[in-house]
Amino acid sequence: MGLLEGKIGIVTGAGQGIGRAIALSYAREGATVVVADFNEEMGAETVRLIEKTGGIASFACGDVSKEDSVRKMVESAVGSYGRLDIACNSAALSRGSGPIHEYERSVFDQTLEMCLTNTWLCMKYEIAAMLQTGGGAIVNISSNSSLKGQAFNTAYAAAKGGVNILTKSAAAEYGGQGIRINAVSPGVIRTPGVEKYFEEQPKIAEGLKKAAVMNRLGEPEEIAEAVTFLSSDRASFITGQLLSVDGGGSVR
Ligand SMILES: NC(=O)c1ccc[n+]([C@@H]2O[C@H](COP(=O)([O-])OP(=O)(O)OC[C@H]3O[C@@H](n4cnc5c(N)ncnc54)[C@H](O)[C@@H]3O)[C@@H](O)[C@H]2O)c1
Repeated sequence: MGLLEGKIGIVTGAGQGIGRAIALSYAREGATVVVADFNEEMGAETVRLIEKTGGIASFACGDVSKEDSVRKMVESAVGSYGRLDIACNSAALSRGSGPIHEYERSVFDQTLEMCLTNTWLCMKYEIAAMLQTGGGAIVNISSNSSLKGQAFNTAYAAAKGGVNILTKSAAAEYGGQGIRINAVSPGVIRTPGVEKYFEEQPKIAEGLKKAAVMNRLGEPEEIAEAVTFLSSDRASFITGQLLSVDGGGSVR
């Protein structure tokens, strides 16, 4: 029997990278998965990959920084499968990096919207659905840039710092009602998003590639393992925690 047998889950940003690995892991462990992404082709491909291995999944296409899309995403889980048990909020998009004094305010605002506001919105609707059936588990994806800060990536680091405190605050708010809420903080993980960032920022890339004490990049599946555990009943007394999965990057 899988760790998530019979559970109904949502994974945002599941069209590629870490989100896709989490959706595949949820399905492999027996969950029915709503794959959420604003990229139709990539989201459909994740659903196909799950179905190919005998899993059950459907696609909710939409931008999770928009309240209407988030409402529809959660409605599609509850409407199709009757309830929502687990959710991982992995979708994020950094709108740019650079020195603060050269930053456009619009870039800062958009980064908060795509990394922090979206997480709050997803939690708002996921929690409302979980309260209907007496509980659930949510895992938010943070970043190690939120731990000590990250020069030239200030908006993203601040947004992910917000995700951490949002996670802890919400865990305190809903623990008594059976909803556990944790966050996973990835180190530097080999994903299409990071490979694009390495190309755009070759100088920053050099440092990032050496971030882990284990002298390698992480793989999306290594993040998915931690998220799957925290989403499962095996983590039944864990809430309000931030777990770094970073090859020791946070202790360097
Ligand atoms: N890869 C890393 O090294 C790393 C490190 C720290 C934190 N993270 C975090 O992990 C998560 C996943 O990162 P990744 O590297 O896999 O990213 P990625 O860019 O490779 O994939 C992100 C996916 O999310 C989707 N997405 C983004 N914003 C969305 C929105 N508003 N609505 C719907 N879909 C949206 C994209 O279409 C894409 O499929 C993010 O929260 C990221 O901040 C990644």
